[in-house]
Amino acid sequence: MVAGPDVTRSDELFARACAVIPGGVHSPVRAFAAVSGTPRFIERGFGSHIWDVDGNEYVDYVMSWGPLINGHAFGPVVRSIESQAAFGTSYGAPTASEVDLANAVVDAVDSVDMVRFVSSGTEATMSALRLARAATGRPAIIKFAGNYHGHSDALLARAGSGSLTLGVPTSPGVPESAAAMTIVLPYNDSHTLRDTLALRDDIAAVIVEPIAGNMGVVSPDQPFINALRDAPRENGALLIVDEVITGFRVARGGAQSFYGLQPDLSTFGKIIGGGLPVGAYGGRRDLMEQLAPSGPVYQAGTLSGNPLAMVAGLANLSPTVTADFYDRLGVATETLARELRAVASSAGVPVTVNFTTGMLTVFFTAGAVRNLDDAEAADTQRYARFFHSMLGQGIYLPPSQFEAWMLSAAHTTQDLERTVAAAQAAFQEMSAG
Ligand SMILES: Cc1ncc(COP(=O)(O)O)c(C=O)c1O
Repeated sequence: MVAGPDVTRSDELFARACAVIPGGVHSPVRAFAAVSGTPRFIERGFGSHIWDVDGNEYVDYVMSWGPLINGHAFGPVVRSIESQAAFGTSYGAPTASEVDLANAVVDAVDSVDMVRFVSSGTEATMSALRLARAATGRPAIIKFAGNYHGHSDALLARAGSGSLTLGVPTSPGVPESAAAMTIVLPYNDSHTLRDTLALRDDIAAVIVEPIAGNMGVVSPDQPFINALRDAPRENGALLIVDEVITGFRVARGGAQSFYGLQPDLSTFGKIIGGGLPVGAYGGRRDLMEQLAPSGPVYQAGTLSGNPLAMVAGLANLSPTVTADFYDRLGVATETLARELRAVASSAGVPVTVNFTTGMLTVFFTAGAVRNLDDAEAADTQRYARFFHSMLGQGIYLPPSQFEAWMLSAAHTTQDLERTVAAAQAAFQEMSAG
């Protein structure tokens, strides 16, 4: 059954949720604030599809915002969680599975000698910054406008994702002293990055989304990659590559393997936890050994390396070793991107479709999108119309112009064809006025 108009139970649940949960959601980007309407309450998912509490079925391109590279309820992930749960959910003591998952990350990502698991991407980037500041003895950091690295104080300056969607990219409540230590530069601007680093000796780290996903998908250009590679090193600052989305999505070695980057530290999350709460940061041995208890830099967590998340992560990563896993995902994404462009163009709707393996964004603007200013030129009202037309046709897209559609190995040719047919109808409706 395809999506019908009946969302009675979602409406009821949302009304109840709004009474006890701020905005009715536990993470802003889940609300339909930018596109209006009631968020769908989801009852179950299987493969590339989800069903809401009213029984409407959707092809899912949110995919839990990235973790589900093998789709919903992936058999090996489900079975690993079931068998671990029967043995207990958490011990507060080491387990074999955390060593195995650490090895899997270290083996896959060339720059990572050692890794520490935490419970979210936010915790990973926050902890990586602390380590960078401790190791360099410097206080300031550089981030890029439209990149999102979680919601710790230092990183909420001109952030992407939900804070960009809601128009509050720098949150009240962040102390001026924290914001003052964060320098925000334009993405894909190698000159400004080089010039800023040349002038300063207080930068602990440059943190970057190696392929941005949180202002919609924006790939780095070669001069920017070159600047990321050399300029921090020449300055004595560290390079932190945030692979919370891109890690194990665009390649096993992450986006850094695409671009030949050798960061000092990297952060991960999402896919490495198979849909359970997880984050990780890792990198050079001499840096990671500065963490407690081997070194003085403190960081800890009651549920860090939680055994359910560790076994789920291992099961989720297992298919990614298959030789053609990323080739197939890449071809599926490219095909979808190309066909979306074609149906938009034949309907006369100007769009720019940016993509990389496993993620894409349809920007409602004719111009190239290389940075936050370009992304913000997109027509968000048009996106909202497109979103609702797609939703009504059973295609569940991110409820924001500034997010990536996530593909998975579970998306079939039929899913993609259905998506393109729905998009064609949506674009035609739009061009009809
Ligand atoms: C690149 C990036 N870094 C960090 C985070 C924060 O991760 P979490 O939401 O698990 O705290 C996100 C979340 O989407 C992200 O996309």
